[in-house]
Amino acid sequence: MIKFSSSYVFIGLAVLLSACKPNDKTKGTDTARVSSLLEFRYAKLLEYPIDSVGFPRSMSVKTGAINKVPSKDWTSGFFAGNLWLLYQLTGNEAYKQRAQKWTAFIEKEKYNGKTHDMGFKVFCSFGKGLEVEGNQHYKAVILQSAQTLSTRFNAKVGAIRSWDFNSDIWEFPVIIDNMLNLELLFEATKISGDSTYYNMAVKHANTTLKNHFRSDHSTYHVVVYDTITGLPKSKVTHQGFNDQSSWARGQSWAIYGYTLMYRYTKDKAYLAQAEATANFFINHKNLPDDGIPYWDFNDPKIPNAPRDASAATVTASALFELYGFTKNKAYLNYANKVLASLNSEKYILPETVQGPFILDHSTGNWPKNDEIDEPIVYADYYFLEATLRKKAL
Ligand code: GLY
Repeated sequence: MIKFSSSYVFIGLAVLLSACKPNDKTKGTDTARVSSLLEFRYAKLLEYPIDSVGFPRSMSVKTGAINKVPSKDWTSGFFAGNLWLLYQLTGNEAYKQRAQKWTAFIEKEKYNGKTHDMGFKVFCSFGKGLEVEGNQHYKAVILQSAQTLSTRFNAKVGAIRSWDFNSDIWEFPVIIDNMLNLELLFEATKISGDSTYYNMAVKHANTTLKNHFRSDHSTYHVVVYDTITGLPKSKVTHQGFNDQSSWARGQSWAIYGYTLMYRYTKDKAYLAQAEATANFFINHKNLPDDGIPYWDFNDPKIPNAPRDASAATVTASALFELYGFTKNKAYLNYANKVLASLNSEKYILPETVQGPFILDHSTGNWPKNDEIDEPIVYADYYFLEATLRKKAL
């Protein structure tokens, strides 16, 4: 049996009480029931067998099959991140010990220059670890990772290259998700005092600010650049419904990305972009009442389209921070609504599911019919981060 510390009980109650009306005993939002479900789910992460080459990414609730990926996958760092976040939420040392083990398995990625996903992989594991303990080795790993990531920067384009696949049709693709990798660069400058990383992050964010956004402040998924002129050649999608649609998680990465840009630089242009895209998202006519978006705001099958809880958790986490910068109550209300919706039996996986995940109903890659309406590791990561950010307010 896992022991939950008194700080866990306090935090859990505080979060749940603010998410539910007093005496709310309606099915799905009963406070005690949700609290015990969360305890059960958190324990599943802790009990999950250590595997240095198989990081849990998603699962089929129907079959119970867990989709495990190697460290090179963009999602590999989230599982360690979830354990660090659970340590921060509960104070239970067992989570920290487990987080240290899973984090170590990511280290070899610091030399992997074939991907832009360094921030997701290394910052969500080693970066979260560094937040918990001032570990010199973690700092060295972050610095080496930033050095490796910087090899993908093209000065003519003014951005970090995202993907290497499809290179016959995409000369230099940059995806909006790439904004999340900039946190690693800012931290590398903090660690080393070398402003190269900071300047690269600013340049990438400025190029993206100029070329990724539409007039309604939604974002394209992929902008393909010409490396001779440095100008955009095409604006397309890879994971959205179509090139002109608004893929929900893409909007979330933009909101989170420009909020973090403001955190590090205090440049008002970034704050304005984060607010504009947040307003697009939270005021969208196709956003359901519970705040959990459909996977793409423009899927013609809405309301019979799958939801994406991960887009909700990324946005909620970002909006707790954006509320801190702007004091705009609309952001706080949305983020609180998302946590209230997710803290229910509708979204938390039941005890009959054995996998190391917390939330159901995320959509990974709809065009490839992959990870549709499933538990996915990064939805849990941003859910836990949002829960901590709410507590910190
Ligand atoms: N970064 C890839 C995704 O959001 O699916």
